[in-house]
Amino acid sequence: MFNRIICGDCIPEMNNLPAESARLIVADPPYYNVLTKEDWDTSWPSEQEYLTWTLQWMSAAMRVLMPGGLLYCFGQLGKREHVMLHLMSQSTSNWQFHDLIIWDRAVGYSNRYDSFTPAYEMILVLRKDGDVRFNKDAVREPYKQSTIAQYVKDKRYKNPDARLQHLQKGKYATNLWRIPSLKGASKQKVGHPSQKPLALIERIVLSSSEAGDLVIDPFLGSGTTAVVAEKLNRQWLGIEALPAYVTMARDRIQKETNRQTHEPPRSRKPRLSSSR
Ligand SMILES: C[S@@+](CC[C@H](N)C(=O)[O-])C[C@H]1O[C@@H](n2cnc3c(N)ncnc32)[C@H](O)[C@@H]1O
Repeated sequence: MFNRIICGDCIPEMNNLPAESARLIVADPPYYNVLTKEDWDTSWPSEQEYLTWTLQWMSAAMRVLMPGGLLYCFGQLGKREHVMLHLMSQSTSNWQFHDLIIWDRAVGYSNRYDSFTPAYEMILVLRKDGDVRFNKDAVREPYKQSTIAQYVKDKRYKNPDARLQHLQKGKYATNLWRIPSLKGASKQKVGHPSQKPLALIERIVLSSSEAGDLVIDPFLGSGTTAVVAEKLNRQWLGIEALPAYVTMARDRIQKETNRQTHEPPRSRKPRLSSSR
């Protein structure tokens, strides 16, 4: 039942899954009129319709999430649309806010001349009521050797060996993440216009799920979440509306993890907007 890709619309497909089965949902939905050449990002007649659809897929996602499970949702303000702000306001009126991560993409991504250049995306984290199991140790960040050398000299610590051991574990990650977005020449790139870096998804999966847990990505795209989940021994399920991306993800998963996902894409055309 798991470790496979479903080609279809994520709302009915998630409605078919058992309730409270997933520990983690990693959702990188269409942004709404940011990737203007992509039908899948521009198919809502209005902001309001996009927001209504967002609340629908989030409801479906929250149903399959276990108590204490986390839902990560990507979004950006890149253009003049304020949709992400409305999305955050409306979704946190319905569900429990858990965190807001700023993903610093390291390089600006929009040619706006009347403001600062946008360089970050946001990752809204919602939680389903219950105890969250969060593994902060799994995503510690190493100190530089020069920092360690300086810190162990601190005379306030009586036991330098214990201090060294502590420093070598690294520091806790904050909710400000500087992870460069993928450039055209990146070796990771497989041809999806919104492919996310593996390191970004790794941090989410490592901190917010354990081996054997089910991780669902309702907007699988090129398969980044599946590759990470497979490598980290999680169970996973990816849903993607466009057959061409299903094929792209399947090839990538096989190449990067050896996992075969044989199921052929369904022949019916996925509904992208009229049903929303
Ligand atoms: C922002 S991209 C995800 C990229 C992905 N995180 C990656 O690293 O490759 C959003 C994806 O959602 C897909 N999509 C759009 N509407 C969908 C729907 N209703 N159900 C499932 N997938 C959908 C699009 O085809 C697109 O591939």
